[in-house]
Amino acid sequence: MDISKERVVVLGGTSGIGYATAEAAAAQGAEVIVVSSSRSRVDEASQALDVVGEVVDLTDSDAVDGFFAGLGQLDHMVYTAGESLSLMPIADFDLVRARGFFGLRYFGALTAVRAAAPRIRAGGSITLTTGTAGDRPTAGWSVAASICGAVDSLTRALAVELAPIRVNAVKPGVTRSPMWGADAGAFLDETAGSLPLGRVGEVTDVADAYLYLIGQRFTTGTILTVDGGTLLA
Ligand SMILES: NC(=O)c1ccc[n+]([C@@H]2O[C@H](COP(=O)([O-])OP(=O)(O)OC[C@H]3O[C@@H](n4cnc5c(N)ncnc54)[C@H](OP(=O)(O)O)[C@@H]3O)[C@@H](O)[C@H]2O)c1
Repeated sequence: MDISKERVVVLGGTSGIGYATAEAAAAQGAEVIVVSSSRSRVDEASQALDVVGEVVDLTDSDAVDGFFAGLGQLDHMVYTAGESLSLMPIADFDLVRARGFFGLRYFGALTAVRAAAPRIRAGGSITLTTGTAGDRPTAGWSVAASICGAVDSLTRALAVELAPIRVNAVKPGVTRSPMWGADAGAFLDETAGSLPLGRVGEVTDVADAYLYLIGQRFTTGTILTVDGGTLLA
C-alpha cells in the first residue's frame, strides 16, 4: 500500500472529504494536486497542504480536458466534487436544478474519467463518490438518491471497461463537513443519535476509505461504505 511518489489528483480536494483525502495522501508521500472551481479555496487548500492546486470548473468539459492534457501522466484520480444538495420533493421538481445536480456529481465525474483514464499509469486507480442516500432515501431525496445509484452502477461499469485501471467508489453516510453549512449542528447531533456507532462520520474517517482503495492493488468495482451503521439503522 505504498503510494509515496505516486501522483494523486483530487477533484474537489479543497474542502471536506476531498481535502482530508488530499491531506492523508500527501502525508503518505504522494504527489498531490487539488482541484476545485473557486480561486480562494484552491489557494487556501494548496498553501495549507503544501501541494499544487488548480482552478477548474468540473462542469465545463473543455476545461476538464484542458486540465488533464496539461497535467500529463498520473497514478490515481479521486472525485469528491459536489455541492450542497437541497431537497426536492416531487411536488417541487425542477428539471433545470435536477440536471444541474447530475451535471457536477455524475456527468462531471464521467467527463473527468474520460480525460484522466488514458493518462493513468499501470497499477493506477479511479475512486468516485456516492452516498448512502441511494440505498436509504428519505422523502425529498429522489434526485440525490438517483445520483448515488447512478454512480454505484457507473463504478461497476467503468471497472469492467477500463480494467486494468481499478475503479471503485466510497459511500459515505452523513459526514461532518463544510457541505452541511454552519447551522447543521442540530441535524448532525440528531443523526448521530440514530446511528449504531452513535456519531456521524468525520472527514478523516472517510478519507481512510479513499486511501485504502488507492493503495489496495486487487480491489476493483467495489463500493466501500463508511457510514457508522447507517444502512443498518
Ligand atoms: N458530507 C456528507 O455527509 C456526504 C455524505 C455522502 C456523500 N457526500 C458526497 O461527498 C462529496 C464530498 O462532500 P463534502 O462533504 O466533502 O463537500 P464539500 O466540503 O462541500 O466539498 C465539495 C468540494 O467540491 C468542490 N466543487 C464544487 N463545485 C465544483 C465545481 N463545479 N468544479 C470543481 N469543484 C467543485 C468544492 O470546491 P469549490 O467550491 O472551490 O468548487 C469543494 O472542494 C460530495 O459529492 C457529497 O455529495 C457527502
